[in-house]
Amino acid sequence: MTLDRDLSEYMSKTARSRALHEEATAVMPGGNSRTTTFFDPYPFYITRGQGAHVWDADGVDRLDFNGNYTSLILGHAPPEVVKAVQEVAVEGLSFPGPSEHEVRLAEVLVRRVPSLESLRFTNSGTEATMNAVRAARAFTGRAKIAKFEGAYHGTHDWALVSVSPDVKAAGGRSRPKPVASSAGVPPAVLKHTVVLPWNDGDACEAILDREGPNLAAVLVDPLLGIGGVLPPVEGFLDRLHTVTQRHGIVLVFDEVISFRIGSGGAQERFGIRPDLTTLGKIIGGGLPVGAFGGRADIMAAYDPRQGRARISHGGTFNANPVTMAAGLATLNSLTPDAYGRLDALGERLRGGVARLLAGTRRKGQVTGLGSLFCLHWTTTALTDYRSSRPKDVEAPIRVFMGLLNEGIVLTPRGLGACSLAMTDDDVDRFVNALARVLARG
Ligand SMILES: Cc1ncc(COP(=O)(O)O)c(C=O)c1O
Repeated sequence: MTLDRDLSEYMSKTARSRALHEEATAVMPGGNSRTTTFFDPYPFYITRGQGAHVWDADGVDRLDFNGNYTSLILGHAPPEVVKAVQEVAVEGLSFPGPSEHEVRLAEVLVRRVPSLESLRFTNSGTEATMNAVRAARAFTGRAKIAKFEGAYHGTHDWALVSVSPDVKAAGGRSRPKPVASSAGVPPAVLKHTVVLPWNDGDACEAILDREGPNLAAVLVDPLLGIGGVLPPVEGFLDRLHTVTQRHGIVLVFDEVISFRIGSGGAQERFGIRPDLTTLGKIIGGGLPVGAFGGRADIMAAYDPRQGRARISHGGTFNANPVTMAAGLATLNSLTPDAYGRLDALGERLRGGVARLLAGTRRKGQVTGLGSLFCLHWTTTALTDYRSSRPKDVEAPIRVFMGLLNEGIVLTPRGLGACSLAMTDDDVDRFVNALARVLARG
């Protein structure tokens, strides 16, 4: 598994992408508009996606286990979603006012998620978590927020803290220090952010008891998705719920990724009723989307009917009809049978990878839940951000590149998702390709 050999094979197959990237760098810094989708030496440019496959600008066909970072739960261009988009688009792309599509998608979400008494739409998960933080501050009158080390909640300032910090700069394991995850995050943000260690109930309770009176919100991705899909240990989320209630802290579940594990998301699976929830990705059926909502008394700050709303929330494209229709068509396809099928695909993949790793000398593990999975290149017991850091820091990118050359797309850090467009054979193809990548080392 040498990176150099894989890189030269990748470059030999992607001449047109290389040329497009050169043109792109002339007009965009790094040739790119998404930090997450860039990798060295250049990303492949995608020209088409259909079902479980994507094709790049050189015509290379790859099986897509990335699914636009877990958004495409039905696969690429599902006919029912494309049809809904086409029918709505001919009637107008966006309007200077609401449409019925927005009401219908909101109704479906409220029916699926009992804690969502009331909600609003945004254009991204970033805007959803930004608004949840603001709503919690407005409701409690407190300034600080808490988040978990290793958790990703988008790219606004309040979320860009301790996402993947250098452990040497991040304090002790049970009392992590806030570390800016981007240039430009001002010191005031760090002063108002408390960082929690994932899956350590005692440490979290001690921190929250100390900081409770100053905390507006605890922001929780219940699966620590981008942090490596590390599900909560038994009782951990219950304990967070109890402690936040004790201190009047707004408990926000960021289900932008975890909503895909079941009809009511992770909160249904783990039996927790958060105060607020943020959503994104799958609820837009492949188009830009986000939503936030929860307790009606908290969301009332957005209600403009008694004069001005206490919180201003605009957005030229919020709840545009095309996104709403795509989201509705997607959710309507996610029946109980569909979730059963997604779970079965995820279990087959994780089982296959675990058996493969048990039979090789590679120090790896696979985690996940439902259709989500993540490869880890360490044998340390996986509980939190720190334990999931690879011993061999180059391993994730070597595996990513090796899989690309085998015709499989994952995320560079090893996160992946099965879609309903996949078959058992597709999943087995993933496992066999990974076996060949590992054997080449
Ligand atoms: C848990 C979580 N929250 C928020 C976001 C941000 O969503 P978006 O990329 O739509 O801004 C992401 C994106 O991956 C996410 O995983």
